[in-house]
Amino acid sequence: MDLRLDPSFNFNCTSIFREDLVLLGYLPLTTLCSEHTAVNLAIVSMMFSFCSREDGFCDVPAVGREFRGLKARLVRVLGKVAPRLPAKLGRLAALASRRSWRESRCEEIMEVPRAEIFTHIPVANLFECMRKLKDASFYHWQILLHGAILLRSFPSTVRWTLPRAFFGGHAGEDAEEEARTYRSFALLALLQHLALEKAPLAPLVAVEIGVSWASTSRALLRALPSLHLILVEPEIQAIARTRMLEFQDRVTWVNEMSREAAAKVEDQSVDLVFIDGDHSYEAVIEDIRAWRRKLRVGGVLVGHDFTAPQRGVVRAAAEFALRVNATLGLSPDCWWLFKPKSGWE
Ligand SMILES: C[S@@+](CC[C@H](N)C(=O)[O-])C[C@H]1O[C@@H](n2cnc3c(N)ncnc32)[C@H](O)[C@@H]1O
Repeated sequence: MDLRLDPSFNFNCTSIFREDLVLLGYLPLTTLCSEHTAVNLAIVSMMFSFCSREDGFCDVPAVGREFRGLKARLVRVLGKVAPRLPAKLGRLAALASRRSWRESRCEEIMEVPRAEIFTHIPVANLFECMRKLKDASFYHWQILLHGAILLRSFPSTVRWTLPRAFFGGHAGEDAEEEARTYRSFALLALLQHLALEKAPLAPLVAVEIGVSWASTSRALLRALPSLHLILVEPEIQAIARTRMLEFQDRVTWVNEMSREAAAKVEDQSVDLVFIDGDHSYEAVIEDIRAWRRKLRVGGVLVGHDFTAPQRGVVRAAAEFALRVNATLGLSPDCWWLFKPKSGWE
């Protein structure tokens, strides 16, 4: 598995704090890291990619909380003009706009040989250091975490990608339209992508396996007027029924378990299947098996909770991607595969 970073990675400097890190995997990351060397390795690799002892600088813009007023402005200007200056002068300006690794307070980490980091540096210190750097974007963290999660289960075999177009949103439940969850964001982007292949306003058909309070269902139906949702849920909640009332003509409830529901849907009739029911390895495998034929060619199979604690989901999705020799699409918490012309038999 290649844990190097996308060279086109854009340091958009979304501040990242410990709270964000905790949300990433839905469990305290400190626990995750102390348990899993691969995640630890990913974090350390990132530290090293930011900080170079050789030239003595951290590759993050030096404008942080610590710099204010004139100094902050000067550093910002230097960073901006550097690429337009002649090579030597440009390098000087670029260096001046970066933060020395001593200032970044990562020196304790940088001083320790890589091999000893796992045993000598408490994970909490790594976080403290990252928190101070503040410039690692959420996207960057996700690349490392997904890499680490897969590396832990499938050394160097699974191909995966984290496309920017499907990356966004926030953790938790959908509240308002403008506050989309990770899953709604990825699902909407995927559905909009599928809609491009269809005539304008031609219906899009999607299945949601596991509906719960219909938060995602509502977000999708609100955003896409051409969407029809088949909602598969063995225990339909009253709140979900109520929320779906306003979309009555675009919703079909199937009050059954996933496998039984699949038997009632025509093969090749669906644009997107969203697997979010039982998250055990066996159940996800069974969902994939039962629903993949329901998808049309070019349709997309999506699953929720591709996160460190959901080992069954990760394993089932990665195994299927390996078996069909495809590249797994990933967002903060979803996985997906587009169905190729050759099918998935
Ligand atoms: C994580 S919640 C779904 C959340 C919902 N998709 C959302 O985004 O808001 C899981 C749901 O799956 C349902 N479920 C569990 N096993 C299932 C199965 N075998 N088939 C269909 N649904 C199942 C549960 O009753 C529960 O409501």
